[in-house]
Amino acid sequence: MDISNSLGTQVILFTSCKGGVGKSTVCANLAMAVARRGRRVLLIDCDFGNRCLDLITGMSDDVIYDISDIAFGRIPMERAILRDKRNANLFFIAAPYSFENRMNTFAFKSVVNRLVSTASYDFIFVDTPGGIGEPLAFAAGVADTAYIIAEPTRAAIRAADRTSEFLMSKGVRRRRLIINKLSGRSVEKGKDEAISIIDSTSLRLLGIVPYDPELIAAGNKGILMDEMLSFNITRAFDNIAARTLGESRKLFDGIRKLRKLK
Ligand SMILES: Nc1ncnc2c1ncn2[C@@H]1O[C@H](COP(=O)(O)OP(=O)(O)OP(=O)(O)O)[C@@H](O)[C@H]1O
Ligand SMILES: [Mg+2]
Repeated sequence: MDISNSLGTQVILFTSCKGGVGKSTVCANLAMAVARRGRRVLLIDCDFGNRCLDLITGMSDDVIYDISDIAFGRIPMERAILRDKRNANLFFIAAPYSFENRMNTFAFKSVVNRLVSTASYDFIFVDTPGGIGEPLAFAAGVADTAYIIAEPTRAAIRAADRTSEFLMSKGVRRRRLIINKLSGRSVEKGKDEAISIIDSTSLRLLGIVPYDPELIAAGNKGILMDEMLSFNITRAFDNIAARTLGESRKLFDGIRKLRKLK
């Protein structure tokens, strides 16, 4: 049964079997974009032993406990949930720092089910590691929606399709594509590229995020979209947030320019 629907919390996986395509970056910034729209969002880092969402969100100094501490009953659940200092609608649970504190399907599922049953969040965003392995398989068991991230390359789009097939086999019914790091000489060229990608995949396109070096610098400093100078990046995440909340928004709404890849 999809417990998320009955209790009003939507659980969304951010995933791709390809590494480095921007899963964590998109997950963290979209969480802030949705939080800015007044919805309560809990981010869970599922990259066990290789966590980085704490760095991207700028919360690494505040992490004391992680999801394994909740799963193995070492602390009350609330103590591992951090609240963002910039936006009170954004919450975060870190992944274990070391590989020793590995989670299993049962433990992960029971933590997410407990979080959903508190009815405290509108969304739970789960950032998964690259690869079609054990972590993705057990993360798939808690969600009926996945946002599959791909760069605009044939290899990444193929990886997105394979990820989608895998998730479908695990019962994740709603699968959407986000094209990240879209570059090009002009927005018109970017639109052409997006159309050719739509033609080459069976996945429905939810949104695009332009390539922008500011996002790399921001990720290193723990700065999220609301504090960035780039209008295009802020706008891109807000467009996807709007679509996540069911509003109709053009894919490139307000995007003024694309950058050429350096
Ligand atoms: N739209 C973008 N424009 C420019 N750089 C980006 C963009 N999105 C992500 N990046 C950069 O790409 C790199 C990989 O991003 P990220 O860590 O989010 O990917 P990932 O898919 O989560 O990787 P992993 O598979 O290791 O978990 C980072 O340096 C990040 O700053
Ligand atoms: Mg990642």
